[in-house]
Amino acid sequence: MKYDIKDIKLASAGETRIKWAELDMPVLLGISNDFKKTKPFKGINISACLHVTAETANLMIALKNAGANVALCASNPYSTQDDVAAALVKNYNIPVYAIKGESNEVYFSHLNAVLDIKPDITMDDGADLVGELHTKRKNDIKKIIGGTEETTTGVTRLKSMEKEGALLFPIVAVNDSMTKHFFDNRYGTGQSTLDGIIRATNKLIAGSVFVVAGYGWCGKGLAMRARGMGANVIVTEIDPVKALEAFMDGFHVMKMTDAAKKADFICTVTGNINVVGADVFKTMKNGCIISNSGHFDVEIDLVALAKISKNKKTLRDSVEAYNLKDGRTIFVLAGGRLVNLGSAEGHPASVMDMSFANQILAVDFVLKNRKKLKNSVYVLPEVLDNKIAMLKLKSFDVSIDKLTDRQKEYISGWQEGTK
Ligand code: NAD
Ligand code: ADE
Repeated sequence: MKYDIKDIKLASAGETRIKWAELDMPVLLGISNDFKKTKPFKGINISACLHVTAETANLMIALKNAGANVALCASNPYSTQDDVAAALVKNYNIPVYAIKGESNEVYFSHLNAVLDIKPDITMDDGADLVGELHTKRKNDIKKIIGGTEETTTGVTRLKSMEKEGALLFPIVAVNDSMTKHFFDNRYGTGQSTLDGIIRATNKLIAGSVFVVAGYGWCGKGLAMRARGMGANVIVTEIDPVKALEAFMDGFHVMKMTDAAKKADFICTVTGNINVVGADVFKTMKNGCIISNSGHFDVEIDLVALAKISKNKKTLRDSVEAYNLKDGRTIFVLAGGRLVNLGSAEGHPASVMDMSFANQILAVDFVLKNRKKLKNSVYVLPEVLDNKIAMLKLKSFDVSIDKLTDRQKEYISGWQEGTK
């Protein structure tokens, strides 16, 4: 079996991590146990490009147990847990192509290595596999039945492809399931982003000025958790409704150039480019710590920062000091890449449980509906979203009420008003 990982000898440490994550992934495990018996993915090749973490390992094992042949590469050059990659290769015979800190060139060679298995299904986090297939490997598309996409930025890219008529196979936007973005993007990113910032810097959050750029699902979670740790939180936005929501949720809201004058920390979670750019560096307080938890490393304009710097020094793992020509120092975490995965371990298994339950059900959905699906971006049916929520509630031993027949009749009718 071919693979490319850092060191196979790390396998036993990776195995311990995989088992630890499994403890908090009861929904995925339940579905996996069912699929292990029925093997719905028998003979199906799945090329997966996801952050190579202990949680992803549990998904890969579940896909394999369901009968699939899987190959895995990283969806970010910094997010791989090398011990987990080793365990997947050694203990589960799953080919992995991922090394933490790999260059962009190696990253793309790994993407191509997983595509070399000639997938029937693609599984992306950020749409780089789909991008590669549509630009450089069009011949491989003929065999593809469909794909899945994990994150907001990937879904945005796919929707533009669909709009331009460029998308050549159907994709399920896993991100758009409620049991994904309500929990993974909000509570997962909220916690793991702070975890990354704290592990990288060991700085005190309490009493600091913490700026969150973007008040979408991830930004809401991050702002909520930063406030919970005692920070004075400022939100920046470009969408008036989101800005108003942040304001009424009790956060300060202002322009980024104003926020930067006060900020001890700035973290971007927008999915957009140059959110912290040349104009913002001009006003930024000396000593500001900047990081990004949006998908790509374009939210902080590091080229503009380098231009106004004398030099750059690595101070700790994941912390680079940019010494500016005017005497200020700005610190950048994880090279401007996803700080929660670059400097910490990504989201806790308990939220990835729901995201990855959606992933495995999305593969099943594509295979079952292969004849009906068009080259469009789909959302999983609500019934599956609700199934995942019910299974998760059950795992927490939480029961909820059921509609009575009378209640069903009442809320679906219009005749009954003021009595
Ligand atoms: P979202 O669409 O819900 O929110 C993004 C917000 O950013 C929107 O409210 C938008 O108005 C705002 N925005 C856009 N440009 C801006 C700018 N220049 N300044 C300020 N605000 C701006 O998206 P989301 O689900 O919150 O995802 C955000 C990013 O995080 C995406 O790139 C997504 O792929 C990524 N993501 C990362 C993780 C992780 O593990 N770190 C997890 C989930 C999603
Ligand atoms: N994205 C964010 N956290 C993650 C995790 N723990 N595993 C895989 N993908 C993730």
